[in-house]
Amino acid sequence: RIAAHLNPPNFELRREECRAKGGAPGFKVAILGAAGGIGQSLALLMKMNPLVSVLHLYDVVNSPGVTADISHMDTTAVVRGFLGQPQLEAALTGMDLVVIPAGVPRKPGMTRDDLFNINAGIVRTLCEGVAKCCPNAVVNLISNPVNSTVPIAAEVFKKAGTYNPKRLLGVTTLDVTRANTFVGEVLGLDPKMVDVPVVGGHAGVTILPLLSQVKPPCSFTPEETEYLTKRIQDGGTEVVQAKAGAGSATLSMAYAAAKFADACLRGLKGDAGVVECAFVASEVTELPFFASKVRLGRAGAEEVYQLGPLNEYERIGLEKAKKELAESIQKGTNFIKK
Ligand code: NAI
Repeated sequence: RIAAHLNPPNFELRREECRAKGGAPGFKVAILGAAGGIGQSLALLMKMNPLVSVLHLYDVVNSPGVTADISHMDTTAVVRGFLGQPQLEAALTGMDLVVIPAGVPRKPGMTRDDLFNINAGIVRTLCEGVAKCCPNAVVNLISNPVNSTVPIAAEVFKKAGTYNPKRLLGVTTLDVTRANTFVGEVLGLDPKMVDVPVVGGHAGVTILPLLSQVKPPCSFTPEETEYLTKRIQDGGTEVVQAKAGAGSATLSMAYAAAKFADACLRGLKGDAGVVECAFVASEVTELPFFASKVRLGRAGAEEVYQLGPLNEYERIGLEKAKKELAESIQKGTNFIKK
């Protein structure tokens, strides 16, 4: 009798039944790359999210340990671990949201584009799994270079006949949390009170903070504008250098990813007025993908907002951003097409 009670599948079923009886909304979320620097902290934060009923942790190494550890947290979500390619399909089947931080991070002296050759292949394989096992899931893509991995994912989904542009979102939230933090410092405000739209892409000059649209309304001197823009664009490099070879942003990224995933889940639940910046299929510029504010709803990115009025400094920045973005998008698209 005791042995039967200790049978984990029975426990899991009971937990799910219990949750269903309580009428609590619950989404099934998978993290691919869950044993990594971002993945572990993100798994912790998603286990704490009351909107998550089932949390699948997939990696090619160490996912059983992370799963055992996280599963002892006394929060509602049922946690299951999956290890290696043969378990990818089981990890993905039935998921509502798939968050992908799998891949290698930057070392000092590397750009995000230097990661392309390794991460492009990883993202292709994982997205093929998504197309097969949970084609309607919302995908949050974190693996760099986001400016290229999102176009890669789009091509994989097109090939599989499952592409829904509203359900594929490149995660740029960390650029926004950095912008809110640095602008808060300059203005002497709690960053929670600050809202900086960051548009374009997620690498160097493609990261374009729109300081003329900061809320609460304020103005910056040309020196402040230059300092803030550069610091926001180089925020990732600041962390890479400080970590001195041990990787790139993981803790702030996990926070940002959890914030963005929560916004996606609130959208899926039907909450009104959920707006975040993300790198998505877009008609805001002539480029096929662009980061701007999007409204998240039951369908995913239901509305992509225009950029609004830009000042001269931002218009120049936009032209630079578009030039580099066009190349990165093309590189991603070619990776699958050729
Ligand atoms: P990490 O090396 O600590 O973790 C990556 C994890 O991915 C590892 O556990 C590894 O085993 C796993 N992995 C590798 N190949 C895999 C595969 N085929 N399937 C599943 N898992 C696989 O790296 P970290 O620091 O967590 O960064 C992950 C990615 O996120 C990097 O590409 C990094 O550049 C990117 N990143 C993106 C940011 C953004 O703002 N979008 C910010 C910071 C990092």
